[in-house]
Amino acid sequence: MCGIVGYIGKQKAAPILLAGLAKLEYRGYDSAGIAIMENGNIEVQKDKGRVSNLCEIKEIENLQGSIGIAHTRWATHGEPSKTNAHPHTDSKEDFAVVHNGIIENYVELRKELEGNDYNFKSETDTEVIPNLIHYFYSKDSKNDELKLVRAVKQATDKLIGSFAIEVLSKENPDIMVVVRKDSPLVIGKGYNENYIASDIPAILSYTKDFYLLENLEFAMLSRDSIRFFDKDLKEFNKKSDTITWNAMAADKNGYEDYMLKEIYEQPTAIRETIGTRVNEGTCKFDELNFTKEYLLGLNQIYIVACGTAMHVGLAVKSTIERLSKIHTEVDIASEFRYRKPLVDEKTLCIFITQSGETADTIAALKLCKEKGAKTLAVTNVIGSSITREADFSIYTHAGPEIAVASTKAYTSQITLLVLLAMYFAQILGTMEKQELENIIKEMLVLPNKLEEVLKISEQIKEIAKQMYKEKDVFYLGRGIDYATAQEASLKVKEISYIHSESYAAGELKHGTIALIEKGINVIGIMTDPNLVKKTVSNIEEIITRGAITTVVINEKIAQMLDTSIFTNVVKVPETEEFLSPIITVVPLQLLAYYISKEKGLDVDKPRNLAKSVTVE
Ligand code: AGP
Repeated sequence: MCGIVGYIGKQKAAPILLAGLAKLEYRGYDSAGIAIMENGNIEVQKDKGRVSNLCEIKEIENLQGSIGIAHTRWATHGEPSKTNAHPHTDSKEDFAVVHNGIIENYVELRKELEGNDYNFKSETDTEVIPNLIHYFYSKDSKNDELKLVRAVKQATDKLIGSFAIEVLSKENPDIMVVVRKDSPLVIGKGYNENYIASDIPAILSYTKDFYLLENLEFAMLSRDSIRFFDKDLKEFNKKSDTITWNAMAADKNGYEDYMLKEIYEQPTAIRETIGTRVNEGTCKFDELNFTKEYLLGLNQIYIVACGTAMHVGLAVKSTIERLSKIHTEVDIASEFRYRKPLVDEKTLCIFITQSGETADTIAALKLCKEKGAKTLAVTNVIGSSITREADFSIYTHAGPEIAVASTKAYTSQITLLVLLAMYFAQILGTMEKQELENIIKEMLVLPNKLEEVLKISEQIKEIAKQMYKEKDVFYLGRGIDYATAQEASLKVKEISYIHSESYAAGELKHGTIALIEKGINVIGIMTDPNLVKKTVSNIEEIITRGAITTVVINEKIAQMLDTSIFTNVVKVPETEEFLSPIITVVPLQLLAYYISKEKGLDVDKPRNLAKSVTVE
């Protein structure tokens, strides 16, 4: 987690770095800091709290330097405090470092360094890095232009763990060195200036040309050059990538919060994700060369992911099984990787991750590769770490998702996986042509239906007003609606801090119904005509016990029921069964959003969370 930014050019660095940090704040927001090369000295300013606190430090305005590094922190080692905030310097203050990641062996390294007269000020794992660099730099008698990169390499050779690092050196005031391992870092190429960031949105307004640094690649940047070195410090040429996202996509664009903007972007995100993948009633995945023989030989599909991305797996599991007839399992990455999963060369493992940087998901992928399985990454970020590990990558085209609570990534991922299920079915011949065409037809009108759903936000606002003071809320559903219940429950937990549980409606009477008492809020999701009667009888059981009920249903279901028994009825357009989670989740995303707003919370940056979880 944590966000890092760097600038080397001719402009004043501080404003560029602060603007970059503000854009990266979703990665961590408990302290922030900046280091600027100022007349041959490294000036460090940092503070506890948000980037806005840092911006208020008067001294920063006076910093004229045009080279600098900056950091916004999500604490792992050491409490959030000014001392533990980055940048960290070595004890002689010759080097400054910002770091994203975790150094697992920092205790031993710190002891070794203390034995060599290095002193430590903070409780962080990071502080060993500038001290190690100092140690190796001062031991190196060769005074050539590569001395700094050599010291950084020798220091990183000692590190166990993950890191993306930027280094400033007093003796080398016109260069900066960066390196990464298992933590993201991109370099943006400008004209007589270069940029560094943990991810692209932070510097998208300055350049569209990026270098995606691979594990253990080093870069030495000056104002007008970027030199790349491999893990043995052999210099090589690297090709840049051009990003098509526009800078506006990473701004709030008039919305009060990123989350609201991203909820409203869902029709576009889905249109873009479908893109040209459907053509004359068929689905195209040209980048996957799966044959009928390969798919027939599969023993199962494993979907592995975390949080909301894992809920996507739950929402598409039965779709994949029913359309392609391939047995499909879904697992949480942090559990999967430690329980010796039954995966072999006959398993197709699918990893869903918006950021492409989630540590547990990437580790699970590596494990599956070791076991000989084919790996397929489903991500939103081109060039993200997972795409460099996976055998195949397919992309959602949701644009940058900045709010910590995932919304448009979720619905785009379901869209892409339903398309994938149809692609498998096409190859295997497990679906009637007509059935395939019907789903595709329905998928193409889905964005318009979502636009309809977004019009009911006033009704949702009213329900939020009734609910925001509650301490508990329950979400119920059966079948595919149970997956939506789980995602809706996570949304309300993470941004409004209300305790919430999701249950398969039929499970209630096996224990949980004991918690239902007068006045408790229960939200039911019902879209399947075959299951609705059963879910309604479960809801009636809780109404009898005094619960306040809100149901999310479609027109067809509304006609089948006496809806007067429910406190609130949220109607959404009807759609194809497999696509229904894409529609039903939207009012529930809005509900979590408006509850959070009613409570006056920071919707985009909920407490204790960060957007990309790059630590285990
Ligand atoms: C979503 O609202 C959450 N903040 C979180 O569960 C997220 O989905 C999870 O951390 C996985 O992230 P990824 O998709 O980037 O791998």
